[in-house]
Amino acid sequence: MPMTFDEKTRSTSNFFNNKGRCTDDCLIIIFGGSGDLAKRKLFPALGNLLFKKMLPEKFKIIAVGRKPMENKDLLSMGKYTEDFIGHFEYLQTDYSPEGIAKLKAAAEKICKESGIAPNYLFYLAIPPEGYAEVAKALKKGGMVHPPKAANWCRLVVEKPYGKDIESATELNENLLSCFVEKQIYRIDHYLGKEAVQNLLVFRFANSVFEAIWNHHYIEHVQISHSEILGAEDRADYFDQAGLLRDMIQNHLMQIFSLVTMEPPVSLSADAIRDEKVKVLRSLRPLDLATQPPVAIRGQYGPGAIKDKAVGGYRQEKGIRPDSSTETFVAIRMNIDNFRWAGVPFYLRSGKRLGRKGTEVVVTFKKLPKLLFNSRGASLNNNRIVFKIQPQEAILLELTTKNPGQSFELSDTSMNFCYSDHFDTSADAYERLLLDAVLGDPTLFVRSDETELSWKYLDPLLKNWAANAMGDKFPNYAAGSEGPAEAAGVLTPGEEPVEWLDFAKYDNICAPIEPGNPSTPSPKA
Ligand SMILES: NC(=O)c1ccc[n+]([C@@H]2O[C@H](COP(=O)([O-])OP(=O)(O)OC[C@H]3O[C@@H](n4cnc5c(N)ncnc54)[C@H](OP(=O)(O)O)[C@@H]3O)[C@@H](O)[C@H]2O)c1
Repeated sequence: MPMTFDEKTRSTSNFFNNKGRCTDDCLIIIFGGSGDLAKRKLFPALGNLLFKKMLPEKFKIIAVGRKPMENKDLLSMGKYTEDFIGHFEYLQTDYSPEGIAKLKAAAEKICKESGIAPNYLFYLAIPPEGYAEVAKALKKGGMVHPPKAANWCRLVVEKPYGKDIESATELNENLLSCFVEKQIYRIDHYLGKEAVQNLLVFRFANSVFEAIWNHHYIEHVQISHSEILGAEDRADYFDQAGLLRDMIQNHLMQIFSLVTMEPPVSLSADAIRDEKVKVLRSLRPLDLATQPPVAIRGQYGPGAIKDKAVGGYRQEKGIRPDSSTETFVAIRMNIDNFRWAGVPFYLRSGKRLGRKGTEVVVTFKKLPKLLFNSRGASLNNNRIVFKIQPQEAILLELTTKNPGQSFELSDTSMNFCYSDHFDTSADAYERLLLDAVLGDPTLFVRSDETELSWKYLDPLLKNWAANAMGDKFPNYAAGSEGPAEAAGVLTPGEEPVEWLDFAKYDNICAPIEPGNPSTPSPKA
């Protein structure tokens, strides 16, 4: 009888043999093998995993697509060894019963000839309208092993996972009619980032911080994601989706869950995901009538980035000239539970801003104005800054005394830069692909998580869809910090609150190269 993941985590030697490879043979079947994601991210990630000897000793990759393709085109965006090319083949087929029969016959032939146990990892790197169709075709074609079968099968699903609560629920129903929940791995590649995973370690491995991680000490939290890029070659998709769906519903809500969840009872996948779900259930529903507003949207107009003039969103290729799609969102979230009562969480994300970066900043309450304030000093808040990308770092902002006779105070920062301590960081797709091969779903999103975050944002999505912005857009210039209206979602407490100047945290650390996720090399 195959072991469950929890049983395996108790006996880690089952995962890796003594060469550091995972032990289960498998066939990695990538649908959309002719597409951009497969060529740019998935094949290079698999190439690196093979190079690092982290894939099973016996495995093959079948890239599946309907178009005729040559290996030289498929493998044009990475450096691949002969060994990798020997493990790789392209199969041109469609998703009709005959097409799936062709795939099944090819998979069985490869397994038989190469002595590979028929464990199947299916990866849906196709547009979302194809997810249910391909899952159903696999089920009908007899390629989905039952969960208790001797060999496993798993389905990895890319983002976007639905476009609203109705479509996400329908997609869950469709996939769950073909696979059981434990076989479904919903990707959110932010969860594959080292600095995002470190949020859990920081919180639950350091007593000094966990004790103050609550409304008694924390004033507010800002989670921010800024991009320099516009819609670019994702224009068709982005103009339909908008930024709330593209960034907030998934990536920023995942970061938010990790910052706010309660300690899990264990590090098993379900224990962690249960706690993430609990905090999503405690979110105060968005009240769109309240003032100041809980959310604002923006769209960029012409401007300049690094002194270079750039056009506005509506002028980009593939964007509707009267588009009301938001390219910027700022939102205030509240959690109605014991830990977080009264603490506002501000999430902000935008395209074509003046800088690139993802940060979480936890701002602590000020101390009573008794001691140093009476000497004319103004005490600032202590802050913990988590830099997620492009640099990875944790900074602690403190107040310290300037040397000398008087009590002059300064703000200083204790910086932990990953690049000072490690030579490498894990590439998110490498980490997630390896976890899917290993059968560890911890860094993938469970069905109830995705439905809860869609449900939470649904009133806002519907309200914005019903109220086109017309000539109120554009409302910020490319290269700026976003629309002035973003300040409107901030609720002053005893002290005024501002969006932080995240640029001041740039260049504190060097970015580090993606590398081996399992054996980062500490610097001497
Ligand atoms: N590209 C990225 O960086 C990126 C990042 C995050 C998430 N994603 C997600 O990953 C998925 C793939 O993205 P992509 O950029 O690789 O897309 P893509 O290049 O447009 O398409 C991938 C491939 O899917 C196949 N395909 C198209 N429509 C299909 C359908 N209805 N049913 C089955 N197969 C279909 C096509 O191959 P054939 O015509 O040969 O079958 C196409 O080459 C999407 O869901 C996307 O949102 C992509």
